[in-house]
Amino acid sequence: MPALRLDGLAFGGDYNPEQWPRETWTEDVALMREAGVSLVSVGIFSWALLEPSEGRYEFGWLDDVLDLLHANGIAVDLATATASPPPWLARAHPETLPVDHDGRTLWPGARQAYCPSSPVFRARQVALVEQVAGRYARHPALVMWHVSNELGCHNAHCYCDVSAEAFRRWLRDRYGGLDTLNQAWATSFWSQRYHDWAEILPPRLTPTFANPTQQLDFWRFSSDEQVASFRAERDVLRRITPDIPVTTNLMLPMFKPVDGFAIGAEMDLVSNDHYLRAEDPDNHIDLAMGADLTRGAAGGAPWLLMEHSTSAVNWQPRNIAKQPGQLRRNSLAHVARGSDGALFFQWRASRGGAEKFHSALVPHAGTDTKVWREVCRLGSDLAALREIRGSRVESQTAILFDWSAWWSADLDAHPTADLRYADVARGVHRALWRAGITADLVPPTADLSGYRLIVVPTLYLVEDAAAERLAAAAENGAHVLITAFSGIVDEHDHVRLGGYPGAFRDLLGVRVEEFFPLRAGETVRLSDGATGRVWSELVHADAADVEATFLDGPVGGGPALTRRGTAWYLATVLEDPGLHGLVARVATAAGVQAVVPGLPPGVEAVRRRGADGVGYLFVINHTGTDAALAVGGHDLLTGVDRQPATVAAGDVIVLRESG
Ligand code: GAL
Repeated sequence: MPALRLDGLAFGGDYNPEQWPRETWTEDVALMREAGVSLVSVGIFSWALLEPSEGRYEFGWLDDVLDLLHANGIAVDLATATASPPPWLARAHPETLPVDHDGRTLWPGARQAYCPSSPVFRARQVALVEQVAGRYARHPALVMWHVSNELGCHNAHCYCDVSAEAFRRWLRDRYGGLDTLNQAWATSFWSQRYHDWAEILPPRLTPTFANPTQQLDFWRFSSDEQVASFRAERDVLRRITPDIPVTTNLMLPMFKPVDGFAIGAEMDLVSNDHYLRAEDPDNHIDLAMGADLTRGAAGGAPWLLMEHSTSAVNWQPRNIAKQPGQLRRNSLAHVARGSDGALFFQWRASRGGAEKFHSALVPHAGTDTKVWREVCRLGSDLAALREIRGSRVESQTAILFDWSAWWSADLDAHPTADLRYADVARGVHRALWRAGITADLVPPTADLSGYRLIVVPTLYLVEDAAAERLAAAAENGAHVLITAFSGIVDEHDHVRLGGYPGAFRDLLGVRVEEFFPLRAGETVRLSDGATGRVWSELVHADAADVEATFLDGPVGGGPALTRRGTAWYLATVLEDPGLHGLVARVATAAGVQAVVPGLPPGVEAVRRRGADGVGYLFVINHTGTDAALAVGGHDLLTGVDRQPATVAAGDVIVLRESG
């Protein structure tokens, strides 16, 4: 796999010079040098300029941009420019426009107004990639290809007739014959049997609940269409420039439409965009989850933070600006969790357009600003960390994460609308974060042999092979904690009979007779002091020990937490304090320790380790109080030996550990 040819860690962001006069370009490169920018992404939304009419290409301005960047020692992550088609495409080929679930056409005038299954779009897309790659293959500034942008961001699901045809083709590939499809979709129900492929549609607006397996397959198909779009571009790029790595930017942790593991496996270098949920006081934990999941999509290898923001964004209801020091903590937290650099959207804040109030490296107010000073400081921080490039994050804990489980668990017509896959997954990640334990988010197909602790949040849908792998891991001594509404259905969303949690009954030694979801806002008390919400169920601990019971609620007196050897089962959704207690308890039983034991709450520690065995301990203090550590080493950021180390309020240290 080709590697990114860049010294040290990447620093920079999306550069959109087409929005500015040429005099500004000269100032841009001077400022980039001042800040230590090493890599910029160029041309992401340039299609309408590069191909002003069908088949007529104009590259002159982009040639000049790349030459200027190269002359200033700045490398380029060159976009294929296919993210957003120009208005002429929709005018000439209106059938390329996407149609939503309710049958409404999404028109040009924003971005990404195309049907992901359109063969017309695909032809124009690939033609543009051929042109861009052909023209810049040998340009010395080029170090990486940036396919499209956030594939599926606004148009992942299209319900038009072209998509319907593509969906049918995908279903033929998956099922071969209509009988198999009818079986898988359980179409004997509600008179849904199909006798001709042409009768099958995407799950458009229906009088009541659409067929769940049809819905699930449409999620799968739509995700595969995005992966196919990536591949179509990547294959052209690989043919023309086999030595240049190809990426596309994901949107983890919580982008549901595209399977991050599936698309990650197709990339040479996995990259991600992460934006804080501004009003969430724990948004640095969501950041950590995004980074941990991106690392999972990269198979544990280093990845690249393609976008985050220097301060506020423009698309949330209230776009809260970052506090002093927050930019630095955010960027270095991504680096701690495996990113070999920190890039932003965008270099210079736009004057016009929908993103003019989005922060940038160069704000509207210029360089005499908090943001610019922090940008320059980050540039020197990243330069000081150059030796950590290529090192890998250490973890003994996995969270099993799965897009098919997510898509299916969240479908309608379930026991409760309140059990949301992403909430449960976030909950266990947050509990591990608070316990100071680094977790890898990995797919059920991952090699689990290196993990001592495996947490399985609401794996509603699970294939037999994955359930067997998990059982084997427990057999080999790993502690496995499975949470409620797991193992319920097979890959077709058909219930596993004989008692829940079907696929995990033997592993856990329990049999669940009936679900007792809770009323909105209702809570239940557990005998170990924890509080449950959303869910309870009638559990028979036939071959398991009962570790805690429900004290009240619909199944008062029944088991709430069970254990069979190293396999634990939680039959509710715990509120945070109880969940933290449980995770800490299972971690202790598994022999998993915090990265730095005894860290105060709100202080984050993660270790990367180089191929030479050298450990790099990142400690990020998200609190307003100094934190004293029981560890020490050489702080790469200040060049000072700290033994033991203190991390000042809001500060970050990165210790090269000896021995
Ligand atoms: C990303 C996108 C960028 C920009 C940014 C704003 O989703 O890739 O182009 O729109 O959001 O936060």
